[in-house]
This record gives sequence, structure tokens and C-alpha cells, in this order.
Amino acid sequence: MDFLNFVKKARTCRRFAEDKPLSREDLDFLVECARHTPSARNAQQVRFVEVLSECAAKLFPLTHWAMALKDWKGPFAGERPTAFLGLALPKSCGELAFVDLGICAQTVQLAATSRGFGCCIIKSFDQQKAEELLEIPDDLQLSLVLGLGVAVEKRVSVDLPASGSLNYYRDAEGVHYVPKRSLEELVIRRFD
Ligand SMILES: Cc1cc2nc3c(=O)[nH]c(=O)nc-3n(C[C@H](O)[C@H](O)[C@H](O)COP(=O)(O)O)c2cc1C
Repeated sequence: MDFLNFVKKARTCRRFAEDKPLSREDLDFLVECARHTPSARNAQQVRFVEVLSECAAKLFPLTHWAMALKDWKGPFAGERPTAFLGLALPKSCGELAFVDLGICAQTVQLAATSRGFGCCIIKSFDQQKAEELLEIPDDLQLSLVLGLGVAVEKRVSVDLPASGSLNYYRDAEGVHYVPKRSLEELVIRRFD
């Protein structure tokens, strides 16, 4: 698959095969990929918490999924993530560390896609309870949670509809569509 098609395939995933749980080795692979990413001043301030099994089941209700899908309360039993990665940063970090954080998250999402896993980057979660559950050290803040599992959801990126709405949506078969702005809208200047 060429790289553009691979990136297109790496859409956010919110439904997983719960009967095919990820393993410790799978999570180590994802963190190993994140370990080799660019980092401002090469400071490498992002820390990872690998979450499986019982702890993943406890973390799930602290996370919030797909706010734009008003009639859907998040993945049902049987379709829930089987693993999470918590990404933490120092409380005292500067803004460049958040750039590193995004690079790590997208690298994990691409790495997950390469193995047939799905990933949902989650910023909306119960901070206090999640930090307690994951025993985040006092000097760190839990900055993102990545929901992971074997992907079962069909996801497609599409052009924006005539209305210009950016809301993602599903059809009757449950296919998940993600509108993306056109190249012409994104490139604001071309200096040839
Ligand atoms: C920083 C960030 C935070 C996000 N937080 C959430 C979240 O809390 N819950 C959720 O379901 N999706 C979350 N997402 C996923 C976005 O909704 C998703 O990326 C967007 O709908 C575009 O879909 P795509 O990733 O398939 O292109 C987040 C994504 C990013 C990059």
C-alpha cells in the first residue's frame, strides 16, 4: 500500500474485536515506534502507561467517545478497546512537549494500523480518576489516553459535504465517514 493510502486507512477507530485482546508485546511494539519519533531538543518528555485486562476495563468508563455521534454512547460490550496507552507529560513542561505528544500519538495510530489494530486518541476523560487508576506520579499529568484493539469498524475519509459540515457520521451499515478539507482549502499560499 502506498503511504497516502496507508495514512487514509489510519482513521480513528472506535469499535474493536473484544474477543481478540492485544498483548503486552503489542503495546511494547507501539511504544517502541513512539520511542523513535522526533522530539523538541530531543528532550523525550512523554511517558507511557500500558494498560490491559482488568485495568483497561476500569479505564474504559472514564473515557468519552465520539461526542459528535449524539445517538451513540460509545462502544458496546464486545466492541470495546482491549488496551489503552496513557501518555503523560511533566506538569511543568512547555508547549513544545505537546508537539512531541501529538507526534507520539499519531505514530502509535500509524503503528497500530500497520498491524490491523485501531486507535482512538482520547483527550476527553476523567482526569482525576484516570490519574488515580493509572498511578500517575505527582510530577506528571495524564495528557492523552489512546484506546486500542483489533479494528472492526469500517472508516472512510470523504470530501466535505455541500453544507461544509466537519461532523463525522455513520450510514445505516455503520460505516464511519470523516469529512476532510480539500487540499485547495488547506494550502493558503504557493510560492513556485
Ligand atoms: C487531540 C485529539 C483529541 C481527541 N479526543 C477524542 C476524544 O476524547 N474522544 C473521541 O472519541 N475522539 C477523540 N479524538 C478523535 C477525533 O475525534 C478524530 O481524530 C476526528 O474525528 C477525525 O477523525 P480521524 O482521526 O479518523 O481523521 C481526538 C483526536 C485528537 C487528535
